[in-house]
Amino acid sequence: MNAMRMIQVAFITVFLVGLYLVSLVWPGAMNGPMSIMEVNGPVAQEQATVFWYTVAVSSFLLVTVGGVFLYAIFRFRAKPGQDFKVPEQTHGSAAVEIGLIVASCVLLLVIAVPNARALFYVSEVPAERKQEAIKVVAIGHQWWWEFQYPDLGITTANELHIPIGKPIDIEVRSADVLHAFWVPRLAGKIDAIPGQINRMWMEATDPGKYQGQCTEYCGDSHANMRFLVMAQKAEDFDGWVRNEKKDGVKPKTIEEVNGHRVFMSGCNACHTVKGSGAMGTKGPDLSHFGSRTTLGSGIYVSNKDNLTNWIKFPKQMKPGNLMNLESVNMVVGDKDVKDLVAYLESLK
Ligand code: CUA
Repeated sequence: MNAMRMIQVAFITVFLVGLYLVSLVWPGAMNGPMSIMEVNGPVAQEQATVFWYTVAVSSFLLVTVGGVFLYAIFRFRAKPGQDFKVPEQTHGSAAVEIGLIVASCVLLLVIAVPNARALFYVSEVPAERKQEAIKVVAIGHQWWWEFQYPDLGITTANELHIPIGKPIDIEVRSADVLHAFWVPRLAGKIDAIPGQINRMWMEATDPGKYQGQCTEYCGDSHANMRFLVMAQKAEDFDGWVRNEKKDGVKPKTIEEVNGHRVFMSGCNACHTVKGSGAMGTKGPDLSHFGSRTTLGSGIYVSNKDNLTNWIKFPKQMKPGNLMNLESVNMVVGDKDVKDLVAYLESLK
């Protein structure tokens, strides 16, 4: 190998190693709402620990193999004035070959054992904590998430409330096509497969909003299939549960009464509002829609303008939106939309 080629190889090696190291500490990769590095709770912590452990073992390998490689090209480079004589050829060394095979197997085990242990840990709530676990069924729909709490008799959508410090035992299902459930800072991810039940668990240590995202391509609005996990202190969570168990509030003002009338002329075919007679299950349960902070599976802030646009222009607000007023023969004028918005917002 001549000097020029040697410098090129050395440069590329240093560049790749540098790129690798920068990628590990780049601030944008380390934090933010969808970061797998800024972890919270034991499941995400376990995943991060096993990740960094594997990175450490891989880095050791990279440095060792790269070091020997660099040493070889420097040590055995062609020197000025040297005559190019082919060195004495040997078939190889059985001792070195067996040694390398054994070393590779040992290194594989060193990586595999903690990873396998972590896989078992994250797949199910630890036996000694089963009693205190909160059960949740997460169902992927095109393009939103339904969250049921079978033991509490609650159904909600797109905003999953959980108490901090408690394991959440999650059953992941799909109502139509493949989806995947992922809350990077808490745990994940796992596929939602039609006709199959997958399990996972997670736990938040600190209260806060954790961003979730469908992470299996599922059609037009796959990227718009977001959700939030609202981790709350026990007393706040209990308050939320108490409110969710109630029926949707009865319309009070003239606007809300008319909004409810409009709602029952078509929206009820797909949506439920507990106690109002609306029992559709195709779309999200709206019994307490007014208490949710987001709209359209986490892609809009829930406010009057966005809600008005959502009702009037569902396809523009979300590509492929299955909400379709024509399909239930609804024709609503501006006044009716305004009243419908007032009614929906009253459903705290
Ligand atoms: Cu649901 Cu992607």
